[in-house]
Amino acid sequence: MSIEVEQKMLELMQAKKNFLKKYQRAKQLFSDLVKSQERLFNKDSQKKKDDEDSDIINVGESVHAINKILEMLYETDRLILNSTKDYFSTDDYLFQHSLGVCYIGTVVLKRFNELFSQYIKNMLTAKFKETLKHYREGDMAPFFYYPPEAVRTISMGYLIHDMGKIMIPDSLLNKKSGLSRDELKEVQKHAGRYGTLFLKMNGINNVYVENIIKYHHAAIYRNEKNAYPVYQSPSDLPPYVKISKLADIYSAMTLKRSYGEAGNPTKVVNTIFRDYSGRDPILQLILYSFVKEIGTCPEGSILTLKNGQSVYVINSRGPEVIVFTDQAGHTIESAEKIIDLSSHSSKSLNLFIDDQHRPKTPIEMFDRLPEYLKKFHSE
Ligand SMILES: [Fe+2]
Ligand SMILES: [Fe+2]
Repeated sequence: MSIEVEQKMLELMQAKKNFLKKYQRAKQLFSDLVKSQERLFNKDSQKKKDDEDSDIINVGESVHAINKILEMLYETDRLILNSTKDYFSTDDYLFQHSLGVCYIGTVVLKRFNELFSQYIKNMLTAKFKETLKHYREGDMAPFFYYPPEAVRTISMGYLIHDMGKIMIPDSLLNKKSGLSRDELKEVQKHAGRYGTLFLKMNGINNVYVENIIKYHHAAIYRNEKNAYPVYQSPSDLPPYVKISKLADIYSAMTLKRSYGEAGNPTKVVNTIFRDYSGRDPILQLILYSFVKEIGTCPEGSILTLKNGQSVYVINSRGPEVIVFTDQAGHTIESAEKIIDLSSHSSKSLNLFIDDQHRPKTPIEMFDRLPEYLKKFHSE
């Protein structure tokens, strides 16, 4: 194996080892939090018996537990997060989905902030060109739509956006279709009464968090169908709320469910772009940030090249990949180097992604993976 790939894999294995401890802890905290709330709300009383040995998180401790999980997410990158075995399983959907929405929402929000800041600066310097003769690049402090403290609170909102679901029976949540009107109304309460009740019971009093819980399924353009609660002027919804909706759709569509397969991430990004593009300028900037940040080839996914080779995505920007099969699909155990598919050299070598093949997960391709990637994905 080339030194470059070997070095990268060593780095990744080490990062994953450090991450797994924090991840297990976060998972435990989340499950304790859920169980404590279930007890509080007397959900599925027969379930309680199995859970008797779990730690109870008291009301005052919830925020602490939530912050611990946030800390873990802030320190992790997407490749590591997506490399856990849990990511591909269907149990613990609420945990995986909450992490996903929080992670995606936060990176998109940060990108939106950056772009917004740049546009404001460009607009202001263009407008006052004449009077800004002595202006030097770097003299203006960045103007962020959301300051860092706000970003942190919004992240928290993304993490707990669906906590109202704790008060809804699992049988109803896992029903794949054919919900009656009343059942649908009950499920929708997670973004209304139940969500707000969760905040109240846990002493969380913050307008960002409240808005995310209330409006993460709301229409974000006029006359959008299947949205709730009904909201008269969707373009007035703040950008962070619109981001929560897109992150929620992306996560829900790309995760495996008890009743369905995970969607192809490339298609999901394209569908979201198609559905929400051309509505209003701020939504357009959000979409642009979303596509730029999420990319169409997520880290840890497997793509097929037009020449038949399979590649593992190390970085969705580019994307940068490791080639791990020959053109006939046979595994190459020792990887040569990390290739940037957007570079001139790879284009001149005719290395292009074949869009006819959907990206696959490492689990689907497990038998074909070289040993070093198997090892990376087996914990
Ligand atoms: Fe929701
Ligand atoms: Fe959700």
